[in-house]
Amino acid sequence: MKSVDYESVMARRNETMLSALGLDYAPFLQHPVTFDYEALMAQVAYSLDAVREIQACAGVGDTALIELRQINRLVRKLAPKGRGARIFVKDEAANPSGSYKARRAALSLHHAKASGFKGAVAATSGNYGAAVASQAAMRGLDCIVVQEVFDSLGIGQPEIVEKGRACEVYGAEVLQLSVGPELFYQFLRVLEETGYFNASLYTPYAIAGVEPLGVEIVEQMKAATGAAPDAVICTHAGGGNLTGTARGLIKAGASACKVIAASVDLAGLHMASDTDFNRKHFTTGHTGFGIPFAGWPDRTDVPRNAARALRYMDRYLLVKQGEVFYVTEALARLEGLERGPAGNIALAAAIALAQEMNADQTIVVQETEYAGAGKQPSAQLSFARDRGIDIRRGDPEDEVPGTSVVIPDHPSRLKLRDVDLPRVRKSLIRKAKGMMPEGSALNQEDIDFLAAETRSVPQFVRDCLKAMSDR
Ligand SMILES: Cc1ncc(COP(=O)(O)O)c(C=O)c1O
Repeated sequence: MKSVDYESVMARRNETMLSALGLDYAPFLQHPVTFDYEALMAQVAYSLDAVREIQACAGVGDTALIELRQINRLVRKLAPKGRGARIFVKDEAANPSGSYKARRAALSLHHAKASGFKGAVAATSGNYGAAVASQAAMRGLDCIVVQEVFDSLGIGQPEIVEKGRACEVYGAEVLQLSVGPELFYQFLRVLEETGYFNASLYTPYAIAGVEPLGVEIVEQMKAATGAAPDAVICTHAGGGNLTGTARGLIKAGASACKVIAASVDLAGLHMASDTDFNRKHFTTGHTGFGIPFAGWPDRTDVPRNAARALRYMDRYLLVKQGEVFYVTEALARLEGLERGPAGNIALAAAIALAQEMNADQTIVVQETEYAGAGKQPSAQLSFARDRGIDIRRGDPEDEVPGTSVVIPDHPSRLKLRDVDLPRVRKSLIRKAKGMMPEGSALNQEDIDFLAAETRSVPQFVRDCLKAMSDR
């Protein structure tokens, strides 16, 4: 019998994780920083066409691309003359389980079944749990979802509680936990006890599963407008959404298309804090994940994260909570599309961005998600009001995360706010430098790797390293 106290379970974490993944990360761990990212992605044993076929068999993908005609009229009214790009949205809510996460789960679960696993485990409080549960159900696999739901008072955010119910509807067993470090411990214990597949969000399979989304965008935009889009906006948290989509765009030949990240600004709230846990009104697509994952992706349940968003991001925009609630209502009232919050984060950014771009340009918001009761603005805002959050109309610029939600009093209040990407890049380079053992320096190969990691050039990396050693 293996002992199951916290220290013993944690000490076995590497062997537990590896046997539950069916992937060999050893070749990618020989250096503390540098590894061959494309070789990691090439571990996926299926071509892009094969991935699309596997997903089609599971009812995943090939979602509609919708032009937001009424919103586009509004944008033209707000924009200076000659400006106002056309916005289109990929209706990912049409996937089984209601979000793009079905793409991420489909290939992993196909691989799990093909590798002989009897079930799959996912540690997530988000849409991914429902996606894994749904894909497992389709394939006759067992599914266990380990979910962080409650604060220490036993209170759960409406969206997270709803997602737990969704997982159960698909037949998954759901282990509901309160916020804190026990999530990972419980996850490891479940993997050890069951021998099930670790359906991690961050394996090459999970990312390759998103690539067809980028390919579909190019194909559908070419059919609709004669050209690939000028910009694609992705709601960004852990980075898989953006990474997979961007890789798909490149595979479809649209390398010139700008890839833009968008997150809700939750500056000042601590994600692991019991008291802040229920003072945020978005469960994903916010800066609490988005900034740390862009600045250092290897903070997950796999040794090397296949989601490396900073490699692909041309720009990173922030929106306010109040703006997203407003845009959620606008999408329903103007376009007749009631959709959940995640995609509307990117849409809020798109409405501001479109006013900066020319009228003959196009933007694709690359996802919607389903709108269940716990995802509606009314549920989130009632929950916020019960926690003493000040909810009012006005200028969202005045919003203070955890204290107020300010719903725009006019659509012209939707603003562009850029994250300082050079700063995020420098922070990644600093962290990489800190990973090197005492006395060993980063060589040319490492500098090239870091330039790719940060979507910069070797000279930028060298300048950053020099500035750090001069200090
Ligand atoms: C519907 C939806 N959109 C976007 C995201 C963000 O994706 P990522 O974490 O890969 O950046 C999530 C993640 O939770 C999601 O569930």
